Amino acid sequence: MRMPKTIQVRYRVEENGEAMGLTAADWIASTVESAIRARGTARIAISGGNTPRRTFELLADPAQPFRNRIDWSRLILFWVDERCVSPDSPDSNYHLTRETLLSKVPLPDANIVRIEGELDPEEAAARYESAMRNRFRLEGAELPRFDLIVLGLGDNGHTASLFPHSSALDEMMRLAVATEVEAKNPWRVTLTSPVINHAGKIFFLIQDTSKAEVVREILLGPYQPETLPAQLIQPESGELDLLLDRAAAAKLPPPAVNGMGLLEVSR
Ligand code: 6PG
Repeated sequence: MRMPKTIQVRYRVEENGEAMGLTAADWIASTVESAIRARGTARIAISGGNTPRRTFELLADPAQPFRNRIDWSRLILFWVDERCVSPDSPDSNYHLTRETLLSKVPLPDANIVRIEGELDPEEAAARYESAMRNRFRLEGAELPRFDLIVLGLGDNGHTASLFPHSSALDEMMRLAVATEVEAKNPWRVTLTSPVINHAGKIFFLIQDTSKAEVVREILLGPYQPETLPAQLIQPESGELDLLLDRAAAAKLPPPAVNGMGLLEVSR
């Protein structure tokens, strides 16, 4: 029988996308700084989609403090998921990151662990899993512990490329899987939920009024992860952060102080 688990969900509501980007860039820089202080290196996995674009631009912007706060030589960058397209395609999550961030900061190529979307999906997933095993020096059934995973949310309740009713939702053994989903670029490679939940810190970036209802359902509605896969995100740490703009947060209880709200969610 599944033991119920309680997750502390902190949510921070920002006025607009620009303010969200600034806060997200600050959270990323802080987590990277403290991981490097603690262990000499930081390993983070980022998402694609449109929402993180401004965050990446702000991280790279020399007029902002974030770029200089990060010791890029000690950061290892991974992706949460990838569309199975060429890395030069505008639909590629790697491509978005390259255009907005990687081409502008001194992150060594050797520190970039991308999902090879140009390959056969199963092969790309297997190669990504083996890259994680090497980078994290994993043995047997060990899971990688990312210092940070940044997630997005689809208006159909998906996160990463964990889409409603897809076989990837049930995957408990593999670190990354190929999955065919109902979306543009149907073949994807995604981290599995056990890997995401094992991360030291996880936050969702959620923007736009189109997400307001699904945010409410995920946090306040019944547990139905086959339909709302984002409910599978149950961090082992017991803590989850959401960063939303006002439009996406419209159906959550109004935050109590300084734009910060707290919910206890039972799974
Ligand atoms: C992808 C993703 C995906 C994304 C959400 C939200 O490759 O599409 O990583 O999980 O984060 O679909 O996308 P938007 O930010 O575009 O709304």
